Parts: sequence; C-alpha cells; structure tokens
Amino acid sequence: MNIASLSENKKIEKRLAITPEITKKYLDLGFNLFLPNNYGNHLGFDDNDYKSLGVNFLDNEKDIIDKSDIIIQLGIPEDQKLSLLKENQILVGSLDFFSNKEKLISLKSKKINCFSLEMLPRITRAQSMDILSSQANLAGYKAVIEAFQIYERAIPMMMTAAGTIPAAKVLVVGAGVAGLQAIATAKRMGAIVFATDVRAASKEQVESLGGKFLMVDGMENLETEGGYAKEASDDFKKKQEDLLSETLKKIDLVICTALIPGKEAPKIIKEDMFKNFKKGSIIYDLAAVQGGNTVFTEVNKIVDKNGVKILGEANILNKLPVSASNLYAKNVFNFISNLYDKENKKLNINLEDEIIEKTLIK
Ligand code: NAI
Repeated sequence: MNIASLSENKKIEKRLAITPEITKKYLDLGFNLFLPNNYGNHLGFDDNDYKSLGVNFLDNEKDIIDKSDIIIQLGIPEDQKLSLLKENQILVGSLDFFSNKEKLISLKSKKINCFSLEMLPRITRAQSMDILSSQANLAGYKAVIEAFQIYERAIPMMMTAAGTIPAAKVLVVGAGVAGLQAIATAKRMGAIVFATDVRAASKEQVESLGGKFLMVDGMENLETEGGYAKEASDDFKKKQEDLLSETLKKIDLVICTALIPGKEAPKIIKEDMFKNFKKGSIIYDLAAVQGGNTVFTEVNKIVDKNGVKILGEANILNKLPVSASNLYAKNVFNFISNLYDKENKKLNINLEDEIIEKTLIK
C-alpha cells in the first residue's frame, strides 16, 4: 500500500506531514512512501535523509498522486491537485471542514474518502492523534515568546543594586490547551499570571500551573459534553467585562486564546477596555484568524492602539515548523495506524470506531 504527501503551499504553510523521524514507522507497518523532490528542504530535511530510510522520490506530483492509496497533508491541497484525485483514494489532513465544506463534499461525491483531523473527538484514545492539542500547545508557547520579544521591559522581578524591576503581569484569556501552555511558559519566565475562562474545570488547571484564576461572580460551567466552551450569556459577558476591565489596569501583556468551535471568536477585549491599559502593553491574539478576541485585532499586522500593540498571525506555527511538523507527523501516523488492519494488511474504515466516524467527511 502506498502513502504519499504532496508539497504544501509554502506561502502559507511551512509544516510537513511526513518527517524523516516518522518515516521508519510507516515502513515498519509495510507501507511504501512517495514524496516529491525537495519535499522538506526548507526545514533542513534533505531528500537524502528520507531516501536513506527507503522513501521514493518523484519529480512529478501527478505521478505521485497516481500511485498513492493515501495522501497525507497539512492543509487541503490546491484545486489543481485535488482535481487529480481518483475514486477510493484517501486524503488525510487538517482539512478545515468548516472553511472547505464545499470542496470536501464534492470530493466525497467522487468517492474519495477525506478525513479532516480537526474533527477528532476529544477522547482519551484519540489523544495521541490530537492535532489540535499538539499544535495549540506549541502556539501557546510561541505566542508568549513573540509577545515578550517586543515588550520593552524585563519579565522577571529583579532586585539589583540599582533598584528593583517588578515582574511583568500577564493575563491569559481562555485556558484551553494553548492558554495553559501560555500560562506555563509565562510563569517559567518569571511573570505573574492571571487567567480567565468560561469553563469552571479550567480553574483547577490554571491554579496547578501557578496562575491566578479570575472567577466571574456567579460563574456557571459553560462546557459542552465534548469539553468545549458554550457561548456565554449576556449576563456572564457583562460580569466578565467588568472583571477584566478592572484587572487590565495592572496587566502588562495579554495572551488571547478564547475560541468557540465553528463560530467567530468571542470579542472579549472591547474598545472601552483599552482606556484601562498601560501604554507599552502588548496583546498577542491567537484567535486572530477566527476574528480575534479584541475588537482591533488584524491578521498579520501589529496594530498600535494608543500605545498598546496588538499582534495576531495567520499561522504562528510557521515560526516553529520543525517542532510542529514532528508532533503533527506523529499524530497523523497514529491516526493511520488506527485505520489500518495490521493482520489483514488492509485499510478498515470502520464507522463503529468513533475516531473514524467523526473525522470522515460524509
Ligand atoms: P478551544 O481552542 O476551543 O478554546 C480555547 C479556550 O477558550 C477554551 O478553554 C474555552 O473554554 C475558552 N473560551 C471560549 N470562550 C471564552 C470566553 N468567552 N471567555 C473566556 N474563555 C473562553 O479549546 P481547546 O484548547 O481545544 O480545549 C477544549 C477542551 O478540550 C478543554 O476542555 C480541554 O481540556 C479538552 N481537551 C481534552 C482532551 C482529551 O483527550 N480528553 C485533549 C485536548 C483537549
């Protein structure tokens, strides 16, 4: 059985779905691997690193598509490549079902099986395949590094002969996977960290990392059965706004991560609240692509609002693509391994398996 990956659109995506590290595991399962020339050069993965392990390289991506049973990608391939896919082939990746619904349904009608991995259920058995967690964790870390880099003061408290520098105060909005890593990273650098979330369960997690949880008065647990956030009521939003407005007076940096699946990101930092920020404060908005958690966020721009800088990028993972690719490649391998019947050496699209059923585009 042949597995392949095509070049990503490098203008928007530097990560890769097949790293040299994961290659051996596919070969051990008995798969043949096909990649296009210069597949990983931009990340320092030479074709020879793969070839020496037994990967086949081809010049022409059409030939690769023709040969493959399974194609593994980061994002959905360009339309011209999609048009070359044939019946019974399998496409696996972070295909972003919500944005690419039409294309994916049309592939389904051509009997191409597409698995969109951001739809994986958040269950224990799927943890090793969970691309949202592996990538959000890195994004949370990198957002803190990016924000700290342009902050014009030191982060940890320093007591020196020339005087004391106070520790920076960081607010993390949304304490899911990215938010918790942001808290851990900011703490490691010596910041004092506050966090807010609509899910009551996150309080304990924030506190276990040394963060201070901002409890909205009369907070109900706004958590779905799947562990995601529900949209907050107007009453909750008003109370959260008052609490955050007060807190922002003492905050130096904000890391925004609040998301509601399938919806625009909640606008948490409103125009009015900006008057409470100190000049020189920094906001890194990881929700930028989904509309942003602040009213002024713009994708791939540093917006200056009365001395407060707001950053938000289309794909922060392009700033640590090697680490992100290594984790992503392992997640996808674990997914393929679950799809593969090792005894009979064939793929088994078993719709009774929740992992397969939830990710398959129907
Ligand atoms: P996400 O990326 O969808 O959202 C980020 C955070 O924003 C969430 O914590 C959410 O509650 C919060 N949020 C949404 N609206 C907000 C608002 N108005 N104000 C403040 N915060 C707001 O979430 P993520 O990181 O994907 O995690 C979702 C859940 O899945 C969490 O409960 C996490 O613990 C759980 N999970 C479970 C796994 C498992 O295998 N059991 C694996 C990974 C995550």
